[in-house]
Amino acid sequence: MSAAYPLETPFTRQAHIEVPIIGGAMYPCGNPELVAAVSEAGGIGIVQPISLTYVHGHQYREGLQYIKRLTKKPVGMNALIEQSSKMYHERMVKWVEIALEEGIRFFVTSLGNPRWVVERVSREGGVVYHDVTERKWAQKGLDGGVHGLIAVNDRAGGHAGPKSAEQLLAELGDLGVPLICAGGVGDAAEFVRAMQMGYAGVQIGTRFIATPECRASEAYKRAIVESDASRIVLTERITGVPVSVIRTPVIERMGLKAGPIARWMLRGRKTKHWMRTIYALKSLRSLKRASLDEKAEYWQAGKSVDGIERIEPVAVIVRRFAGALEGAGDRGQGAGNDRGQ
Ligand SMILES: Cc1cc2nc3c(=O)[nH]c(=O)nc-3n(C[C@H](O)[C@H](O)[C@H](O)COP(=O)(O)O)c2cc1C
Repeated sequence: MSAAYPLETPFTRQAHIEVPIIGGAMYPCGNPELVAAVSEAGGIGIVQPISLTYVHGHQYREGLQYIKRLTKKPVGMNALIEQSSKMYHERMVKWVEIALEEGIRFFVTSLGNPRWVVERVSREGGVVYHDVTERKWAQKGLDGGVHGLIAVNDRAGGHAGPKSAEQLLAELGDLGVPLICAGGVGDAAEFVRAMQMGYAGVQIGTRFIATPECRASEAYKRAIVESDASRIVLTERITGVPVSVIRTPVIERMGLKAGPIARWMLRGRKTKHWMRTIYALKSLRSLKRASLDEKAEYWQAGKSVDGIERIEPVAVIVRRFAGALEGAGDRGQGAGNDRGQ
């Protein structure tokens, strides 16, 4: 008898993987061993190029080759395509080119117009999924030819969206491409719930930080295990737009809103780009330091912390999630969660 909820979906077919789970791009937590572990477990790990090079110290191509030695299964790459400068755009074009040369065929785009990525990647038989927080951006992605959409909801780590997983499914469900749920999936029950709602897969960030494969500090991992959703707040102080973090004394001291000058600059059409660049450079440095430093208490995480009960290997997590989905009957009977309820 076939499972009520098979692991195979339109997304797993496009990405050539077994389990409908994306290990989302994470700056600064996406070290190559973590990316490879998600792919090796049957999902697909996504390389965040700045994390790979600047935080984890690899040359870009050599880092991709290292990941390929750790797993023979498909991995993906995150192309952040906001055109803040010509130099940045040219670097991203080169990174996509090298990724294709190294055999990557699954790309996740964020911000901007993904058309050039789609055109280039499609020629090699690859696919592009686009991160979106509302229909306007989804439509822009589809006009650019993307093959799937990643619906980033209000429980996500990183830059959370304003809408719930349910709202996004209602808003984007008729667009005719596979839809991935990003945000809030911390345990097997949440995974099963997202799939039963009608998503073709999930994108997970926070859950995979609390693993031995992630190089983040032990203090960061422990904070994820010990926090619940009430401790997750959005701060504008890191990148100028709201980022989801654990409320700690450091975050409280910094405050959650951008300062008046920054806010004024973020509003102006021209000054907006400068301000974002200033924030980007500042935040790249401080987040890198904070993720590795045991005393930093400056940690990005989403509301999925609710379901995260322990630090455990990626393969154990993916296997449990997959088993729960295959074992789920109608309306989630037998799905279970990580607390053994
Ligand atoms: C620490 C951290 C860093 C992240 N960095 C990025 C990033 O650089 N680029 C990106 O597209 N998404 C980034 N994200 C978002 C994740 O890829 C993913 O969509 C999100 O974590 C899903 O929500 P969850 O944390 O509840 O699983 C980040 C998330 C976290 C927790």
